[in-house]
Amino acid sequence: MRCRECGSEHEPARLSVCPDCLGPLDAFYDYSEVDWSEDSLSRRPRSLWRYRELLPLLDHGKAVDLGAGLTPLRRADRLAKALGLREIYLKDDTVNPTYSFKDRPASVAVSKALELGYKVVGCASTGNLAAATAAHSARAGLPCYVFIPKGIEGTKISQAIAYGARIVSVNGTYDEANAVASRAADRFGWALVNINVRPYYVEGSKSLAFEVCEQLGWEAPDHIIVPIGSGALLNAIAKGFGELRDLGLIEGRGPKISGAQGQGCSPVVDAFRAGRDSIEPVEVPNTIAKSLAIGDPGDGVYALRRIRESGGFAEAPSDAEITEAIRLLGRTEGLFAEPAGAVTVAALKRLVASGAIEGDERIVCYITGNGLKAPEAVAPSEADILEISPTLEGPGAEILEVGAWRT
Ligand SMILES: Cc1ncc(COP(=O)(O)O)c(C=O)c1O
Ligand SMILES: [Zn+2]
Repeated sequence: MRCRECGSEHEPARLSVCPDCLGPLDAFYDYSEVDWSEDSLSRRPRSLWRYRELLPLLDHGKAVDLGAGLTPLRRADRLAKALGLREIYLKDDTVNPTYSFKDRPASVAVSKALELGYKVVGCASTGNLAAATAAHSARAGLPCYVFIPKGIEGTKISQAIAYGARIVSVNGTYDEANAVASRAADRFGWALVNINVRPYYVEGSKSLAFEVCEQLGWEAPDHIIVPIGSGALLNAIAKGFGELRDLGLIEGRGPKISGAQGQGCSPVVDAFRAGRDSIEPVEVPNTIAKSLAIGDPGDGVYALRRIRESGGFAEAPSDAEITEAIRLLGRTEGLFAEPAGAVTVAALKRLVASGAIEGDERIVCYITGNGLKAPEAVAPSEADILEISPTLEGPGAEILEVGAWRT
């Protein structure tokens, strides 16, 4: 492990931050060990564990693998046409084992917690990580405590309950739930995946860079759009592209990386737009993208830096724009995303409108969570449902005759 701030190096032990300066720790590897030839990869698991040389587990036989990762990269020509673009791909992480990208970091973190000898795991969560950690801890046979703020989607709580987790509902914001969870981890000696196992946890998400490049025939896209909550995901994806470049597996400087948050909780986007280097926390987040409602993002400054270094942009679409993006994605491509996933499409739309995106770029939108986790985002309106009596001759049905309804 290497400290991102002071550069000191440490053994991959029970470490959540740099013991010297409390800075964040990044994993590094023996890069000469990597063999990702087509032949070698074809014999590997169809999950993120295929990239084992760059995952922080010492004994790979101990991986807790529910099959997270290796999700489809879908070319989205109908969406591209609707937005006036040439080449869009959707990285469809809605089809992970618990239906969000969080299965990636959870799989790595629960595996590492086992390796480090922890007996209890858990997390602080805006919803998706709760389900992902609960499922992987069930698979590992470890008890799991999830700390959640008030107001998250009931579906996500049900999921975590079904996987046997103990739910600790904290009467406050996500940041407050996170602070309480952190104290509980210290007091009880638990491994909370995104808190004291965080340096290992974040490594799972960089597989989202590896897969996109592998799926494009070891080419990097020109531009990627990534949702931001804590900023860990964006930072990890950027690290992943950097590792591929260092390994010579992709050429060029890597994609532009743009970030997306919901209006109502956009501390990173606000800092980007204001040209600031620091993040001003949002006291009380209020966005339909509840999974991204983190007012004081732990990796916010690093995400901001990554966006700037890559030449990318940042946008914070409104609730209405996000809901419209869910429907646009659904009706053009048959993909149903939760608000935190479709926010990248809403941001893309803004970037096209502002002229920031050029029409001939090869773009990848990361779609990180499944729409069935937050179905209330597509509450039916009168325009969606035609009510008729149980006959095709009755009142209302004549409109079907002329084919006039919702064309
Ligand atoms: C669906 C979804 N997308 C994106 C994110 C953002 O990830 P991060 O908090 O690592 O920035 C989250 C976080 O919970 C999420 O649930
Ligand atoms: Zn340090």
